Amino acid sequence: MEKRLAKLRASLPEGFDAYLVAKPDNRAYLTGFTGSNGYALISRNTALLLTDFRYVEQAAIEAPEFMIKDYQTSLYDALQQALTEHNIQRLGFESDYITFSIYETLKEKLQAELVPQTGLVEKLRMVKDEAELASMRRAAAIAEAALRQTLPKIKVGVSEAFIALELEIELRRLGSERLAFEIIAASGPRSSLPHGRASDKLIRHGDFLTLDFGAVYNGYCSDMTRTFVVGKATDEQRRIYGIVLKAQQAALAAAKPGRLGKEVDAVAREIIAQAGYAERFGHGLGHGVGRAVHEGPSAGTKGEDALQPNMVITIEPGIYIPEWGGVRIEDMVVVTPDGCENFYSFSKELIEL
Ligand code: GLY
Ligand code: MN
Ligand code: MN
Repeated sequence: MEKRLAKLRASLPEGFDAYLVAKPDNRAYLTGFTGSNGYALISRNTALLLTDFRYVEQAAIEAPEFMIKDYQTSLYDALQQALTEHNIQRLGFESDYITFSIYETLKEKLQAELVPQTGLVEKLRMVKDEAELASMRRAAAIAEAALRQTLPKIKVGVSEAFIALELEIELRRLGSERLAFEIIAASGPRSSLPHGRASDKLIRHGDFLTLDFGAVYNGYCSDMTRTFVVGKATDEQRRIYGIVLKAQQAALAAAKPGRLGKEVDAVAREIIAQAGYAERFGHGLGHGVGRAVHEGPSAGTKGEDALQPNMVITIEPGIYIPEWGGVRIEDMVVVTPDGCENFYSFSKELIEL
């Protein structure tokens, strides 16, 4: 936490006296505090965490580098008191998180200039430290093991919802704190829905089945997708699957320090376009993962950040053909000095269940 605070202070723009951090993932990243309510106020020489009675004891344990303040009846009075004590006049705030009405109240109650400033903490979060990577490795291992436990339960006649529930139970049994996001289980023609929620549709012989899911460990997410065929795959299913796999492997090989996210996206997109399916790959190749399942850097068509060692991204191309079905294959990787390392070892050959 000391290092994270020092980095944030170093990245505070000229003229800022302090930065107010309220976004839960940013606040937890900087302070260690995981409660639902609190504001971190960070200046060049102070680190305060304002929270309420429910969390004072927890905050003192989780955020030892911060001075904890129980704001009691008024957050705004407590904030103003802190601003006065520490002579803070220009205060940066997360304008992509603070609602308009909170902003109006801050403006009315605080005698400070409020300066919108997004992305300071998000930028730091893009590059993981060893403790974060260890948590993410565990979250990935839990997900992979849960998938292995679930596969034998997938049969013709069970519903997508049943499969999602079995997978969720295995994730939780193996130590996932919660789901990283609602499990996607889409089968047959529904597999053309990139984010198809598990429905009561029953699995039929020959269906594609796409499972997209993630575990959470120590507050860190994993994200993984595999597509299977229940029964015997047709030649057409094998052909489409093969194109997606080739695109995915090419992108994995291309992900290395210095490459922009959009350049890695382009490698996969080109292969899918050459095969005639440009229009059927309508989402970005991937995204950063960490405390949030979607965070920076982007590995989509607008990904302008250059990859750096210890960034974690997903590589997840897909082809989606309405009323026929779709395939997505998703791995999560950490960028290394000369390439990237996959968090998963789960097979990507087309598995017939
Ligand atoms: N589940 C959403 C994603 O893979 O990004
Ligand atoms: Mn996913
Ligand atoms: Mn993803």
